[in-house]
Amino acid sequence: MSGRKYTVARIPGDCIGPEVIREASAILEASGEKHGFSISWADYPFGADYYTRTGEILPSAAVDEMASMDALFLGAVGDPRVKPGILERGILLHLRFHFDQYVNLRPAKSYPRVPLPVRPKKREGLDTLVVRENTEDFYMGIGGTTEKGRAAIDMSAVRGLYTMKGKLEGEFSGGVEGAFQLGVASEPGIRRVVAYGCRAAKARGEKTMTLASKSNALPQIYGFWEEVARDEAEQHGIGLTAVNVDAMCYHLVRTPDLYGVIVAPNMFGDIVSDLLAGLSGGLGVSAGADIGDRLSMFEPIHGSAPDIAGTGKANPIAAILTGALLLDHIGEKDAAATVENAVRSYLEEAKQKELPVEFGGEALTGSVGQAVLQII
Ligand code: NAD
Ligand code: IPM
Ligand code: MN
Repeated sequence: MSGRKYTVARIPGDCIGPEVIREASAILEASGEKHGFSISWADYPFGADYYTRTGEILPSAAVDEMASMDALFLGAVGDPRVKPGILERGILLHLRFHFDQYVNLRPAKSYPRVPLPVRPKKREGLDTLVVRENTEDFYMGIGGTTEKGRAAIDMSAVRGLYTMKGKLEGEFSGGVEGAFQLGVASEPGIRRVVAYGCRAAKARGEKTMTLASKSNALPQIYGFWEEVARDEAEQHGIGLTAVNVDAMCYHLVRTPDLYGVIVAPNMFGDIVSDLLAGLSGGLGVSAGADIGDRLSMFEPIHGSAPDIAGTGKANPIAAILTGALLLDHIGEKDAAATVENAVRSYLEEAKQKELPVEFGGEALTGSVGQAVLQII
C-alpha cells in the first residue's frame, strides 16, 4: 500500500448512529485499500451514554484535537433519555458553528430500485441538491423565556464571520409569559453559501437555482436574504428564483423533480431536505455533508432513529453514501466513485429479499453493509 494516510475523527453517537457508522467505515476502509490509501480513525464516544455517565457533552480538548484531522464522520446524536437539544446543540450544532461549516450539502438522489412515493415527471429519477446555510437563521441559539412577563435576552454569539453582542429587552403587558427566538442573517453569511450554490449549479451545467424563502410573512430576514442572494447569484451569472417555502413543499410533493439546486436558509433547508429525503426513497438513502474552510463534517441527514435502534432495520446506505462524500472531499475521487458505484450495483443486483427493510426487503443493517463491501 502506498503512503497516503488520512486521520478521520469519528463520532458514532447514539441509537442507530453506531450501527450505520460501523458498516460505512468498513466500506471506506475497503475502498481505501483498493485505491492505495488508509484511514486511521480517531474515535470519540460523545453522545447520550457518555453524557449520562460523565456529565460531559463535548470536551473542548477533543474539539481542538479534531481541528488538525482530515475530516469528521458522525452518525447521529439524540436519545430519549436526554432532554431534546442538549446533545443536538451541544455536539452537532456546536461542531458546525465551531468549525464554521457554513454549507450543509444534502443531495436528494434516487437510486436504482429504491421505491419513490411520487413518480418524477421530467427526469428518470431525482437529482436535486439542497445547499443549506448552516450557521445562522433561527439556529443562532439566541432566545429565552420571560420572567413575570419580562425578557432580557443575551445576544452574544461567536461565528467564523463575526461576533455579536448586546441585549434584547422587552416585556409583555400584564406579566404574560412567553418565549423568544431570534433569527439572524448576515450579508457575508448569505453571500458565501449562495456563491457555493452557484458553483454547484455551474458544475451541474445549470444556469438557474431556487431559493427557499418566505419574504411575504417574514420580510425583514427573508426579504434581506432575497436581495443579497439575487445580487450574489447575478455576479456569478446564475439566475435565482425565490419561492415561498410553503409553496415549495406543495410543488415538491406533486413534482418531486422540479428543482435543480435549492439554496435555503438554515431552518427551511432542514425541513425541505427531509421532505426531499422522503421523496427520494427515504432517510436511509440520504447523505449529507457540513462543509467549511476548516474541518468539514460528514453525517447522514437522518437522526438517531430510536424507534428502530437495535432492530437491524436501520438502512446504512445513507451513511455509506455520506462516506463517499467524505472521500470525495479529502481528494479521493476514485475511491468515492467506487463506493457510490458499489451501492448502485448492489441495489441493481439484489434479490427483492436482499434489499434493506426500508425499501421493502428483508436485509438488516449488517447484511446491507456486507453486500456493498463484497462488491468493493
Ligand atoms: P430521525 O431522522 O431519527 O427519524 C425519522 C424517521 O426516519 C424515523 O421513523 C426513523 O426510524 C426513520 N429513519 C431514520 N434513519 C433511518 C435509516 N437509516 N433507516 C431507516 N429508517 C430511518 O428523526 P427524529 O425521530 O426526529 O429524531 C430522533 C433523534 O435524532 C432525536 O433525538 C433528534 O434530535 C435526533 N437527530 C439527530 C440528528 C443528527 O445527529 N444529525 C439529525 C436529526 C435528528
Ligand atoms: C439535521 C438535524 C439537526 C438540525 C438537529 C438534530 C439539530 O435535524 O441535521 O437535519 O436541525 O440541523
Ligand atoms: Mn433535520
